[in-house]
Amino acid sequence: MAINSTKEDEELKESLKMDVIKRLLKNLLDYKGKIVVVTLLILTGVAVSTIYPLLIEKIIDDEIYNGNVKGLFTMAGVMMALAVVHFVATRTWRRIMAVISNDMIINIRRKLYIHIQNLGVDFFDQRPAGKILARVTGDINSLKDVLTSTVTTLAPDALSLVVILAIMIVKSPVLTLSAAVAIPIIVVGAYFFSYVAHKRWQKWKKKDSNMIAFIHEGIEGVSVIQSFNAQEESNREFSGMVDEVVHAFRSAVFVNDLYSPTIEISGGLGTAVLYYLAVTKLGVTQDSVGTISAFVMYLGMFFNPIRNLASYYNKLITNVSSAERVYEIMDMEPLVKDALDATELPEIEGDVEFSHVGFAYPDEPDVDILHDVSFKAKQGETIALVGPTGAGKTTIVSLISRFYNTKSGSIYVDGHDISKVTIQSLRSQLGIMTQDNYLFSGTLRDNIKYGRPDATDEEMLAASKAVHAHDFIEKMEKGYDTEITERGGGLSNGQRQLVAFARTLLTDPKILILDEATSSIDTRTEILVQQGIEELLKKRTSFVVAHRLSTIKNADRIFVIDDGGILEEGNHETLMAKKGAYYDLYSAQFISAS
Ligand SMILES: Nc1ncnc2c1ncn2[C@@H]1O[C@H](COP(=O)(O)OP(=O)(O)OP(=O)(O)O)[C@@H](O)[C@H]1O
Ligand SMILES: [Mg+2]
Repeated sequence: MAINSTKEDEELKESLKMDVIKRLLKNLLDYKGKIVVVTLLILTGVAVSTIYPLLIEKIIDDEIYNGNVKGLFTMAGVMMALAVVHFVATRTWRRIMAVISNDMIINIRRKLYIHIQNLGVDFFDQRPAGKILARVTGDINSLKDVLTSTVTTLAPDALSLVVILAIMIVKSPVLTLSAAVAIPIIVVGAYFFSYVAHKRWQKWKKKDSNMIAFIHEGIEGVSVIQSFNAQEESNREFSGMVDEVVHAFRSAVFVNDLYSPTIEISGGLGTAVLYYLAVTKLGVTQDSVGTISAFVMYLGMFFNPIRNLASYYNKLITNVSSAERVYEIMDMEPLVKDALDATELPEIEGDVEFSHVGFAYPDEPDVDILHDVSFKAKQGETIALVGPTGAGKTTIVSLISRFYNTKSGSIYVDGHDISKVTIQSLRSQLGIMTQDNYLFSGTLRDNIKYGRPDATDEEMLAASKAVHAHDFIEKMEKGYDTEITERGGGLSNGQRQLVAFARTLLTDPKILILDEATSSIDTRTEILVQQGIEELLKKRTSFVVAHRLSTIKNADRIFVIDDGGILEEGNHETLMAKKGAYYDLYSAQFISAS
C-alpha cells in the first residue's frame, strides 16, 4: 500500500545546537536560588568521593603498616561519616533537580499549548495533527532529558574528571602519564560504542513509532479497511513492521551488551599497566603501596565519567534536535494577530462589506484564490454562497472571521476595518460554524454551553428547542448529561449538526457564518436540520455556504462563486430567469435530485 506513509522513516538531522542548550540553561536562571544549592551539593559530593582514595592511602600507609588499630577505627568512622554526607548531598540535589526540571517542563508545555492555540489556522493547514501532538508530548520530554542529563551527568562528571586528574598529577606525574596511555583507548572506545548503540536505538525508535502510527491509522480507518476487505493486506503489513521492530531491538541490545564489558576490560588493562609500571619502574616501597592503591582507585573513578560523558553526548545530540523543534514552534509568530493600535470592536449591528478583496493562502502566496471581491451585506440579510467545489466559498467566509489576512482590499464590519480591531472582539460577536462540526468529549450540556459557559439551563433548553435538538436529546436515557466521545461519537451526523446549531444559537451572534456540511443525513433529521437552520438565520446577518435547495431559495441574495469571484448575484427567481451560471448549477444539481 503506497498510500500509507507511516512506514517512511523520518530522517533525523542531528547536530549539536549550542543555542538550544543556552536557551534551556537560561530557563534555569528562573531557579537561581535552588541552582546555587544544587551546585554546592554537587561540589560536596564530588569533593567527598575524590577524598576517599586519599583516606585509603592514609589508612594503608599510616595505620595498617604501623599497626595502629585505634587510628584505623577513627579513619573508618570518618569514612562512614563521609559516606553519609555523600549520600545525603547526592540524594538532595537529585531531588531538587527533579523538582526544577519538572516544573520547567510543565511551564514550557503550558506556554507551548497556549502558543499553538494562538497560532492560527494556517499553522494547522500545513501540519498533521499527529505531528503537533508529538511536539507537545514527546519532544518536550526530550527537552527534559537534555536538562536533567546536563545537570546530573555533565556537571558532576566533568567536575570529577578535572578534580581527579589534578589530584593524580599532583600525586605522581609519572604514573598519571603512564595511565594516560589507556585514556585515549577508553575515550575512543566509549565514544564509538555509545555511538553505534545510540544509532541502533534510534533506528529501533523510528521503527517502533512507525508501528504505532500504523496501528493508529488502522484503528482510525478500520471501517475503510473492512469495507475494502483489506484486513489481510493490512495484517501482513503489520506483521512485517513488527518483525522490523524486533530485529532493530535485537541489534541494539547486542551492541549495548558489548559496551560495558569492553569498557571494563580496557579499564582492567589500564590498571594492569599501572601496576606493572609501579612495580617494575618505580619499585614498590612500604610508603608507596597506599599511593598506588589510591592511584588505582582514581583511575577507576576516571573511567566512569568518561563512559557517562560519551553516552551523554550521543543522547544529547538527539534530544537537542527534539528540543529545537519545540523552540521552532515557540518562535513562530501567528500570521493573523492584533495590530499594535488595534481597538475593540464595539457591539455590532451586523453590516458586512468586502471592498476589492484579493486573497491567496499563505503556503501558496502566488496562487490567487480570490480576485477583487466586493459586496455589501446589510444587517439581518441572509446570503447564500453557491458554486462548484473548490470555487472559494469557504475561503470567503473564513476571511470574515479573519482566520487569514486579505492580500489586498479590506473587509468592514459595521464600517470598522476588521484588520484594525482586536481578533477577540471580532470573533466573540460572530457565530462560526464550519463544515466540521467539532464536538468535544464531555456531556451534551457542556458542548452546548461551550461558547457561553455561564448560560442558564433555561437558556440552553430554549436554544436546543429552537433548533430541534431537544427532541432527540430528551429521548436519550441521560438527556443533556449524555457523555459523547471525541468528535461527537455516538451521535449521527444530523444530530451532531443540531447540537452544533444549539451551541451557536446560544451565543446569539449578530453575524452568522455557516458552512453547511455536505454529508447526507436521513430525511427525518434533514427536515429538523432545515428548520434548525431557519431558526438560526433569523434576526442576524448570515452567510451560508449552502447545499440545501431550501436554504438557497429562502436566502435574500445568492452569490454564485466561481473563478475567484462573485459571478452572479440575485435571488432565486431573478437568477433562474437570467439563465446564466446559477441556472446551470441549479439544473445540474437539483433538478435530477428533486
Ligand atoms: N488551507 C489552504 N491552503 C491552500 N489552498 C487552499 C486551502 N484551502 C483551500 N485552498 C484552495 O482554495 C481554493 C478554494 O477552496 P475553498 O475551500 O474555498 O472551496 P469551496 O468553494 O469551499 O469548496 P467546497 O464546496 O468543496 O467546500 C481551492 O482551490 C483550494 O484548493
Ligand atoms: Mg468549502
